[in-house]
Amino acid sequence: MNPSLIGLRCSFCNTVYSPEKVAYTCPEDNGNLDAVYDYAHLSRHLDSTTVTRNPDRSIWRYAPLLPVVPHALSHTPLASLGWSPLYRAPALEQALHVRAVWLKDDTRLPSSSFKDRASAMVIARAMEMSVKTICVASTGNAAAALAALCAGTDLQAVIFVPESTPEAKLAGILIHGARVYTVRGSYNDAVALADAACRAFGWYNRSTGMNPYTREGKKTAGFEIAEQLALQGLVWTDSGFRAPDVVIVPVGDGNIISGVHKGFWELHMLGWIERMPRFIGVTAALAPSFYRAWQSGSEHFETIPSQTIASGISSDRPCDGVMALRAIRSTGGAVIEATDEEMLDAMRKLATQAGVFVEPACAAAYVGLVKGRRANLIGSDDEVVLQLTGSGFKDVRSALRAAGNPISVESLADVQR
Ligand SMILES: Cc1ncc(COP(=O)(O)O)c(C=O)c1O
Ligand SMILES: [Zn+2]
Repeated sequence: MNPSLIGLRCSFCNTVYSPEKVAYTCPEDNGNLDAVYDYAHLSRHLDSTTVTRNPDRSIWRYAPLLPVVPHALSHTPLASLGWSPLYRAPALEQALHVRAVWLKDDTRLPSSSFKDRASAMVIARAMEMSVKTICVASTGNAAAALAALCAGTDLQAVIFVPESTPEAKLAGILIHGARVYTVRGSYNDAVALADAACRAFGWYNRSTGMNPYTREGKKTAGFEIAEQLALQGLVWTDSGFRAPDVVIVPVGDGNIISGVHKGFWELHMLGWIERMPRFIGVTAALAPSFYRAWQSGSEHFETIPSQTIASGISSDRPCDGVMALRAIRSTGGAVIEATDEEMLDAMRKLATQAGVFVEPACAAAYVGLVKGRRANLIGSDDEVVLQLTGSGFKDVRSALRAAGNPISVESLADVQR
């Protein structure tokens, strides 16, 4: 355990628990827990060059700000994951009249989704506790990340996914040797079943919103974006970190956005960036629970069955909604809804104009950029980062819907000039 980690604080009642005593949500009120560190001590004693001069280009370069660092990492995907590319999309900048659009491309992580960051951190924690079985409820990507990163270790992954999970996601889980249960019900039903199984069998639960270490893995994307922007953005900063104006993130449970936000927030606490970016969350119009809470101005979420094709953000009720809403509200951000058609169209746009192939949930970030620009939530002078969260190869059926059909030919006579 990192000695700077003070404990896990409840998002409702603010009680701080030792991770040795409480592993999941608050025993009093079920609030999501958040790891808190001794920031006063860190800001006095941790110099940014400790990180920026570290030759390790993996998430573990941020070890002083992580709850746990695994041992026995060498030569596994777990050791090298992170530092996904951050690159500009000039065609999108021109089309939308935005000063800078950067894509943080987590489709390039080992299991082709952002969820590798979270699964790695939970596995590191499992190793610290000498746990042998990790279980997760997932819409597919978190499970694939867990299965892939457990491979070659002595950890067993047990997976609960809704039966609507796209085939490619299922294949990407099964191939790594995880035990997979398809739940006849929704993602939220899978969450409940995984929780019950963990209680019954003593498995360690990685499910989003349940396990506070997922956010700790996800915040590394915020660290990387700020560091890569300082390196590539042609603007010198003393610390070697720099914040953009806006970060756009697809939202299902809300754990990615709360994680990326936390990365920037910690850099701000340490004085390594001067200000926070505005966070824009993009939800599926057919999974409206989060958007309704945003509109109501409250932190109350209704359970509303999701109907969207965007499996990654298909949540009936967000499991980490409170922290996500706070990330958005506290930075002057916004929530934008994306219809299924808009996400399919966005898949095509990102593929044809930026060369990146993403799944519908991920494409929602681009819908947020277009609609946010139109609504003037994003100005022409803004520097914007889209967090790309999952590869299009994970949902081939949606990709073919977005892309159209090939042309069948037999001879040259069938081929157009
Ligand atoms: C591709 C993709 N994008 C976005 C998300 C949303 O993340 P969160 O549920 O933490 O909001 C997910 C979650 O599964 C995902 O798989
Ligand atoms: Zn509490």
